[in-house]
Amino acid sequence: MRITPDVRDVLEKATVDGVRLLLPEQLPDLLYQRVNKVLAAAGGRWNRRAQAHVFAADPSAVIAGIVRTGILTTPQDHGYFPTPPPIVDRLLELADLSPGLRVLEPSAGRGAIASALADKGCIVDCVELLPDNAQALAEAGFQRVTTGDFLTVAPRPQYDRVVMNPPFAKDADAAHVIHAFGFLAPAGLLVAVLSNGVTFHRTPAAKAFRALLQSTGGQLHELPANSFQASGTGTGTVIAVLPGTGRTLSAPAPATDAPADSTGDDLPDPQILVKEIILDLQESLLLLEELRDSLAPAAVRTATTD
Ligand SMILES: C[S@@+](CC[C@H](N)C(=O)[O-])C[C@H]1O[C@@H](n2cnc3c(N)ncnc32)[C@H](O)[C@@H]1O
Repeated sequence: MRITPDVRDVLEKATVDGVRLLLPEQLPDLLYQRVNKVLAAAGGRWNRRAQAHVFAADPSAVIAGIVRTGILTTPQDHGYFPTPPPIVDRLLELADLSPGLRVLEPSAGRGAIASALADKGCIVDCVELLPDNAQALAEAGFQRVTTGDFLTVAPRPQYDRVVMNPPFAKDADAAHVIHAFGFLAPAGLLVAVLSNGVTFHRTPAAKAFRALLQSTGGQLHELPANSFQASGTGTGTVIAVLPGTGRTLSAPAPATDAPADSTGDDLPDPQILVKEIILDLQESLLLLEELRDSLAPAAVRTATTD
């Protein structure tokens, strides 16, 4: 989030007293609204009794960072979109859990999935990039929390389950799932919610994800449109289920409540198929253009030498 110079000026003059931030003066309405929006994004709430914006912890470092860089990085910039309860339920259903299983949640946020896993009696290890989120996990009672970049954690195939909703931007979800697969015990099961972009994007990560899905005999389950609306994103999503190297998945049971003309939840969405066809056509066009360009000089040469 970019901060305009006038808002930055106000924040530079503001005073921090513990968890309270006091604005320097009475601001014109519009400017106040913009300052308030930035403070809210940084985690501050106006508190009439305190006559200040009140934060969960001392906001000095965050405010100094905004003043210095003119940018506020929010949890959403790191892909923090908590998993809505119906999606958590579906993930857990597909994960075939039982008490005592060792489970990894490698992008645990504030514990939407991890808490549900713990409620099922699983032993949950969490990894989370953002210190504030990791602190929330610790406060929620999780004792096995690693704060940092999951992609730099060395894999060991020790978990019965990996259940995850990783960040989606730029096919990071594909990269996270591929890395997470290295933590799965041979008899284990990995269940992940991903952006449906991984089913048709042409990036190396998305292609590698599809190759992994195919080589493991994994399955994809589409989720209804707007499944993440409650978390503030309209991205289309799918759930991938990948068996460990020593396990095979049984064919998915036909949905008993599916409408008569349903194509089943493992068949690709027609919109995704159309995107794939367009990408294939574009690729073919490029190949034809390359072929034409490579033939053109030869044709000229032939014409001049004959
Ligand atoms: C889509 S949110 C999901 C959060 C949580 N799994 C849930 O279901 O509510 C993705 C989470 O991954 C975290 N994250 C982003 N990059 C990460 C990384 N490289 N390593 C670990 N966590 C990361 C974000 O901070 C965010 O909390």
